[in-house]
Amino acid sequence: MVAVLPDDLSSALDDELARHPVGRLTQSVDRLSARYRQGDAATSPILSSEADVAAYAGYRMPATYAAVHAVLAEAALRAPGFQPRTQVDVGGGTGAAVWAAAAVWPSLTRCTVVEQVAGAIGLGKRLASGAGRAAVRDAEWRRGFVDPAAPAPEADLVTLSYVLGELPEAGRADVVRWLAAESGTVALIEPGTPAGYERIRAARAQLIGLGRHVVAPCPHDAACPIVPGEDWCHFAARLPRSGLHRKLKAGTLGFEDEKFAYVVASRSATVAERPDARIIRHPKKHKGWVALDLCTPDGLKPSVAVSKKQGPRYRAARDAEWGDGWSST
Ligand SMILES: C[S@@+](CC[C@H](N)C(=O)[O-])C[C@H]1O[C@@H](n2cnc3c(N)ncnc32)[C@H](O)[C@@H]1O
Repeated sequence: MVAVLPDDLSSALDDELARHPVGRLTQSVDRLSARYRQGDAATSPILSSEADVAAYAGYRMPATYAAVHAVLAEAALRAPGFQPRTQVDVGGGTGAAVWAAAAVWPSLTRCTVVEQVAGAIGLGKRLASGAGRAAVRDAEWRRGFVDPAAPAPEADLVTLSYVLGELPEAGRADVVRWLAAESGTVALIEPGTPAGYERIRAARAQLIGLGRHVVAPCPHDAACPIVPGEDWCHFAARLPRSGLHRKLKAGTLGFEDEKFAYVVASRSATVAERPDARIIRHPKKHKGWVALDLCTPDGLKPSVAVSKKQGPRYRAARDAEWGDGWSST
């Protein structure tokens, strides 16, 4: 799957980045990359200057947009009756999840971003001010904290993308309970690392325990069959890199693959049309047959062979991608 930034976001980002010397942005990119790789909870905001916020928007926001868009598009596919009108994006940074949600659901009319860093709110608001979609343009930006003692976010859709890992481990379960308390559907997205997956795995189990139903990616509400430490469930979204983005990331490729782990869970059992299975690795294409690694309600099914003799099924397997649903018939 390829997620191209909407033109209005892309050109607003270019304008924002042009306000900062490239050398200053590159310094921030290097520091932020090292900090995010470290992966432990933050004791103070990681985005600590205007240049950090601009660098985040330049080098991470296109990737988090791609991941969140892929997640929400899959949720929309699985829950066609779900037409959210309201969204609260917690720890929203510069607003990637609001842009992604508005692109997936034109039904959204009221989006709210809750974020602790004033500079991120300022930049996010400037980016959103010229958005073509009213839900993005008119979004409310609120300075606030992830705080399970505060009133719970109340919306049809509550998103938390690339935030759980920044929160202290001991408080994460309370945060998940708080996010789910007043929301119709909750979408949690984390980096596609073993640690990101384990946070999602724990949150997923907790959401199911709270009576929520998984919309995506799992084709079931049973315990995750993956053995932590042996493997991890994650997916990838491909995004094109702009020239400036390539400079900031010192990359030469014209694209990058953003890996992410996620769960979308809903209060209503009736909204999800789950696939029979989920393809959890790149399909391996051999001469005359394709091998699929599947997660199913009966557990993991590694290397399921689909041969040329199976005609349309073979053609479907050949076209299938990592992350797609798979039908058993
Ligand atoms: C890695 S960024 C992700 C931003 C955005 N959600 C995205 O996907 O691009 C993490 C964001 O969470 C915010 N954050 C972290 N802990 C927070 C807290 N306790 N309260 C509010 N915001 C928080 C940070 O300031 C930062 O903007």
